[in-house]
Amino acid sequence: MLQSKIGGIGHYVPEKIVTNDDLSKVMDTSDEWVRERTGIEARRYGEKHKETTSSMGAKAATIAIERAGINKEDIDFIIFATLSPDYYFPGCGVLIQRELGITKTEIGALDIRNQCSGFIYGLSIADQFVKTGMYKNILLVGAEMHSMGLDYSTEGRNVTVIFGDGAGAVVIQPTEEADKGILTTKLHSDGTYAEKLAFINPGSHGGYHFDKMGEEKDFGYPDKDEYGGIFMTQKMIDDDMHYPNMEGQFVFKLAVQKFPEVIMEALTDAGLTPADIGMLVPHQANLRISQFVQKRMGLRDDQVWNNIQKYGNTTAASIPIALCEAWEAGAVKDGDLVCLAAFGSGFTWGSALIRW
Ligand code: ACO
Repeated sequence: MLQSKIGGIGHYVPEKIVTNDDLSKVMDTSDEWVRERTGIEARRYGEKHKETTSSMGAKAATIAIERAGINKEDIDFIIFATLSPDYYFPGCGVLIQRELGITKTEIGALDIRNQCSGFIYGLSIADQFVKTGMYKNILLVGAEMHSMGLDYSTEGRNVTVIFGDGAGAVVIQPTEEADKGILTTKLHSDGTYAEKLAFINPGSHGGYHFDKMGEEKDFGYPDKDEYGGIFMTQKMIDDDMHYPNMEGQFVFKLAVQKFPEVIMEALTDAGLTPADIGMLVPHQANLRISQFVQKRMGLRDDQVWNNIQKYGNTTAASIPIALCEAWEAGAVKDGDLVCLAAFGSGFTWGSALIRW
């Protein structure tokens, strides 16, 4: 059986730095509150009307392709993970194909919507395709342009202060070194609490009779059915129904439980222990979550990579950005055991073990 490996990695973050103090000028928040609760000091915002999720993804992908030692025309499959796509449809997979100038049409492009765990889901899909011999150079991208879709009023502060923009990309290739590459991936989901962290309008539920948390509400319309089938109404916009929402404490409690569980599941499967981890790259959800997981797993500071302080939570992009920075800094070396783990909206969660 073939193994797959990360053959090249790249990342891109936009130039514009937005500090907590910058946000406190437009909403009722403070640097102290945000740092204390999340560890975040700043985040990056893409250039409005110039950059998009797929254009940022293309910048990261160009670096990953070059580092993989291949030409863009060698890419035979694209997987794009994002929750903030350029368009509702088509997805960013074909848009990045065009942006990169990949003209051959024998390739496939797949978009996945697994939010914070999107990169790990994408990695698992790519791993299966390479293992079966179907593809040889899979471009996997995680990118987000959250800044275009956040509520900058005080009402949206609990969500808005957390998120930032950026992109990361890898090229997944086969390897003949039996002890190298992706050792295992573990994926999980539980839809019970789908609306606890969600962006539900516009959507095919089509009704304005759902509130932000997905609860059915009577908004005083004489005929609710009148609104069925309409993705977006002016009233939804007027009532600020078109922003993401999150029950922060609920998410926090589940995250700190699921991260260690899914990491242990992967380690046990591979016959390894936390002590074997060279570098844990957790999805950068909240520094407090990462610190909790580190403590629970008994890991030293040099075994965990955190960069949420600089970039905030970049959802599908956070793991490839962090992994790329760790590798560029020399903190991930040949032969190291790298563990990736994520938890997020859905809820979906997962982990991956890679022998670098
Ligand atoms: N600035 C100032 N005050 C705020 C802000 C803000 N940005 N946001 C909320 N508050 C206020 C609230 O209104 C509330 O005020 P009140 O007591 O007067 O009602 C108070 O702060 C406490 O609010 P809580 O929501 O209880 O604050 P909490 O300590 O839970 O922290 C946070 C909120 C940071 C969102 C936390 O719950 C969290 O990190 N949860 C995990 C969510 C997460 O990581 N999401 C990322 C996406 S999912 C993922 O990637 C896993």
